[in-house]
Amino acid sequence: MNLKKKYLRLFESRFLLNFNLFFHKIFKEKDIGSLNLDFGDKPSREFITQSIIDKKNFKSYLEIGCRDDDLFSKINCRKKIGVDPVSGGTLRMTSDNFFIKNSEKFDCIFIDGLHKYHQVKKDIINSLSSLNPDGIVLLHDCLPDDIFKQAIPRCKKHWNGDVWKSIVEFRTNPEVDVYTCYADQGIGVIFNRKNRNLLKIDKKDFSNLKFKDYFYNYKSWMNVISFDKLIKIVDL
Ligand SMILES: C[S@@+](CC[C@H](N)C(=O)[O-])C[C@H]1O[C@@H](n2cnc3c(N)ncnc32)[C@H](O)[C@@H]1O
Repeated sequence: MNLKKKYLRLFESRFLLNFNLFFHKIFKEKDIGSLNLDFGDKPSREFITQSIIDKKNFKSYLEIGCRDDDLFSKINCRKKIGVDPVSGGTLRMTSDNFFIKNSEKFDCIFIDGLHKYHQVKKDIINSLSSLNPDGIVLLHDCLPDDIFKQAIPRCKKHWNGDVWKSIVEFRTNPEVDVYTCYADQGIGVIFNRKNRNLLKIDKKDFSNLKFKDYFYNYKSWMNVISFDKLIKIVDL
């Protein structure tokens, strides 16, 4: 791509983000400030994922959304598949197209594709069907710090999307055990076992959850735990 085109793209994307920010500020849920989450001294997603793979002696790893392979290239596991329609990984396709054709099972699946509630929910359901019985699903970007980092349409460069709504929904499912590790933008963890701390929320459509409610309840809604606790419960 030549320099002129590159700058035009950059300008277009900055313009779009600013336009969306203006739209959210005027028409959408009111900004109530920041949770001031600090992941600075917490383990990285690479460290967490590799620690789980090593502890469980996992043999197969699937990553949904790989981009520059920042995570994918660092994971050490006997079988690795990375799915991304644009760049990185090993297969150039969307997660939906991958799961339609896939018949393999995996020990660890890391979901980090399109960060929008409906897609993340689909990725979780498909991942659970492609998981070995003792397997674990991980998700990136589960703990947004403020309303704009999770707003749809996207209005910030550093954006988590509304992945958190899918975590809250699966926290209400008795068939899976769901946590969020306080590290690296929030790492969702889904165990294929009965829920040990079922969340009771009377809600039919979780896409309508309000950020305000997450802001005041995120510790219990997301079942937030430290990395030390996570590594202890991985085998329990
Ligand atoms: C945040 S990046 C992934 C970063 C990477 N996992 C890491 O830890 O460095 C998100 C990636 O998801 C990809 N993506 C977007 N929609 C997708 C989809 N439907 N299925 C799979 N990947 C998707 C994008 O192309 C992008 O490369």
